[in-house]
Amino acid sequence: MTLGLATGSTPKGVYAELIKDHQENGTSYEKITTINLDEYIGLPPTDPNSYRHFMNSELFDHLDIQLENTHLPNGAAEDMSRECERYGQLIKDLVDIDLQLLGIGRNGHIGFNEPGTDFNSRTHVVHLAESTRKANARFFSSIEDVPAHALTMGIASILDSREIILLASGSAKAEAIRQLVNGEPDEQFPASALKLHPNVTIIADEEALSLVSQD
Ligand code: GLP
Repeated sequence: MTLGLATGSTPKGVYAELIKDHQENGTSYEKITTINLDEYIGLPPTDPNSYRHFMNSELFDHLDIQLENTHLPNGAAEDMSRECERYGQLIKDLVDIDLQLLGIGRNGHIGFNEPGTDFNSRTHVVHLAESTRKANARFFSSIEDVPAHALTMGIASILDSREIILLASGSAKAEAIRQLVNGEPDEQFPASALKLHPNVTIIADEEALSLVSQD
């Protein structure tokens, strides 16, 4: 089974539950393959702000998963276009992601697919929106330290997943969730691509749902 995983504050609770379940019930991840959405360019895997480091410390180090079966784009690769090709091919080789977990950016980004991303995109290099860098600056010592570029799985690859679960919590996500639920597919709002997928579940708290209209 292949799990598509996400970083950010939102999925932390899910990862804590998976660890608890592994420890208490012995659920095994020995045969699980994971593939992550994205990685900052310029941060080696050892950097505490790299998404590889996040995944190892928040999840993988606490499970019986084989680290070689966990995949993230390499933000320290020498040749980024080759790295995009490698990661895109890897996703194809895994056939399809069985379950993709997603968070959502305040501007509607999924992975690091910023507004304006082609819905047909595969793994590519992104120039991060200033608002995204600001939102993620809380993890760094200053906004200048937030990388300007990232590698991300493309929207077409996300849509190839068999099932998608999008998580959102807090009022900072309310406008994005309103646009996602009430709006139409629009490349200016990347998460709206999920409307083209037959099996998406949104799990959100009351604050994140507060602007969704019932009609
Ligand atoms: C980050 C990640 C996304 C994540 C989003 C929301 O930039 N690249 O995958 O979903 O922003 O993050 P958070 O859950 O911390 O609000």
